[in-house]
Amino acid sequence: MDQAYKLRNLINSKKQIENNFRVIAVSSGKGGVGKTNFAVNLAIALKKRGLRVSILDADFGMANVDILFGIKTRYTIYDILYNDKTIDDVYEMTEEGVKIIPGGSGISELFDLDDEKRKKIIDEFSKINDIDILIIDTGAGLSKTTLTLLNFADDIIVITNSEPCSLTDAYSLIKVICRENIKSNIGVVVNRAKNIIEGRETFNKLSNAIKIFLDKEIKYLGYICEDHRVINAVREQKPFISMYPRCEAGLCINKITSEILGTCDNNKNATVKEYFSKILKFMGR
Ligand SMILES: Nc1ncnc2c1ncn2[C@@H]1O[C@H](COP(=O)(O)OP(=O)(O)OP(=O)(O)O)[C@@H](O)[C@H]1O
Ligand SMILES: [Mg+2]
Repeated sequence: MDQAYKLRNLINSKKQIENNFRVIAVSSGKGGVGKTNFAVNLAIALKKRGLRVSILDADFGMANVDILFGIKTRYTIYDILYNDKTIDDVYEMTEEGVKIIPGGSGISELFDLDDEKRKKIIDEFSKINDIDILIIDTGAGLSKTTLTLLNFADDIIVITNSEPCSLTDAYSLIKVICRENIKSNIGVVVNRAKNIIEGRETFNKLSNAIKIFLDKEIKYLGYICEDHRVINAVREQKPFISMYPRCEAGLCINKITSEILGTCDNNKNATVKEYFSKILKFMGR
């Protein structure tokens, strides 16, 4: 790592801290393209740069952020709503220092809350005021709940690979985001690319279609190469960036992290509480 690289990282991290709180939602059209691996390893890379990071596992169908970290969460947001648990009971801290908040079925319940339960959620989330970045791992595709989580996020990162189905589904996802008039920044990460060229070419295909048919610009955040150590790490239930810090996929994650930190403009929410308040207000309309 050269001096200039270190300095850039320091400046980027500082910029992030000055900008307070940022919400990054990770999404995809097609399932199984690498969202959770990306969310988990990005969280660790950000943490290593001195930021305080939390992941909300909002994939209520197949929540598995905790599995990739090799820990078992006990409760979810559902238990705050219906079993008298507090946010301190629900979140788990990983050995890397990332806070995991399991959404569970509580995430889809957020649409039907009465005033008392809404207040409970806001009160509990207002206790989490020590986070610089909230990463949200959403389920694939678009439910009403996922769209709302995306709507109030600062950044939406769409994960795709180079396969036609994955690209078509990424296009459809971005089309809905545009149709719903969601104003978050859209960035794309190409996962499982053979090399830098395949990454860029895959992005160009998607970006050209989006420019022509949706008249929208999206940002290329980078690629993650196909790396068998990702598969090994998943089997061992360890994030690949922790198990193999110098592996190719890990280096790709570090480059993407710099890219993300280098592009932060005015964030929408000052705190986690504000983010959830907006969501609940929107859902209660
Ligand atoms: N860069 C990579 N290199 C090699 N294998 C990868 C890579 N990224 C992901 N995989 C493989 O793809 C699998 C699925 O990844 P992951 O669980 O992160 O996808 P997902 O998009 O979160 O899936 P879901 O839609 O089910 O939530 C991983 O278990 C791993 O085996
Ligand atoms: Mg997943």
